[in-house]
Amino acid sequence: MYGCPNQSIPVKFYIVAFSASPAGHLSLFIGVLLMYLMTILGNVTIITLVCAVKKIHTPMYFFLCNLSFLDLISTTSIIPKLLFITLTQDHSISIHGCIAQLFFFMLCGTGVLLILTSMAYDRYVAVCRPLQYYLIMSKFLCVVMAVVSWLVGTFNSLMHTILTSLLMFCISHDINNFFCELSSLISISSSDANSRKILIAIEDFFLGFLPFFLIILSYIFIICNIMKIRSKHGRLKAFSSCTSHLLTVTLFGGPGILFYIRTQFSHEEDKDKLLSVLFLIVVPMLNPLVYSLRNKDIWEATAAITKRKCTRGAFSF
Ligand SMILES: *[C@@H]1O[C@H](CO)[C@@H](O)[C@H](O)[C@H]1NC(C)=O
Repeated sequence: MYGCPNQSIPVKFYIVAFSASPAGHLSLFIGVLLMYLMTILGNVTIITLVCAVKKIHTPMYFFLCNLSFLDLISTTSIIPKLLFITLTQDHSISIHGCIAQLFFFMLCGTGVLLILTSMAYDRYVAVCRPLQYYLIMSKFLCVVMAVVSWLVGTFNSLMHTILTSLLMFCISHDINNFFCELSSLISISSSDANSRKILIAIEDFFLGFLPFFLIILSYIFIICNIMKIRSKHGRLKAFSSCTSHLLTVTLFGGPGILFYIRTQFSHEEDKDKLLSVLFLIVVPMLNPLVYSLRNKDIWEATAAITKRKCTRGAFSF
């Protein structure tokens, strides 16, 4: 990220964030801080449970663990800086900070979508090929899918980060967003960004629409299969094994699409920005809840851990 050729001072960026009254800033600070703490708590709990309890060492939970990791990274790359800005009103961010935000945020965005796709495939196998489930969803395949998700996310993000770091910023250093986001950076750069926009459009297709399409496709297969089950009880049981994932996909997908549309035709208004902050923090916060509230396994795992901790205690479950 360079200034103009005749400028030797390194560039610093300014994150515009929100233009609110002091009282507005304070409530924003408190609200976002509380949600951030809940996100940390929820996701760390999920990771600990999945690692500690043997009984839920299944592909679904390992992927869930991956999802929690990605949620932790993406919120932590953005929220603490935003909290600092709202509290101190110091809007500047160094180039390195900006590059780090860009990198981790993009890595997590792609990673989450690919992990959700892997989970959809897992559900497809569980419902449509139940007898071969353990044969198909082997440890090996799960690790391959998880590693591919992380690697694709990393490479994609690295490429964008490097390309962005080569851009020139002559006119404006004000990022009209609440973190260093790719399209906001490109829009204030003075380099020609047309080829970048084409690249981004191609990627949106392969790393955005294609995984989304695969998720929909597996659910079409799942629903067709569930319809074929004779007993009502069997249908319900098969369907309920997918509800947590379906909820998560909706949780990411619905606002995700809105977020995407917003960055495409953004008007950069405060209201829009507030909505995307909510999306970026509420979704990772709700994700552990969706899984735990709907899920007997998680409760049993929690109970098992508590029980282990107080074997001689007065608690019994
Ligand atoms: C991610 O998923 C893989 C495959 O199931 C699992 O082996 C790995 O432990 C998970 N990693 C994290 C960090 O959750």
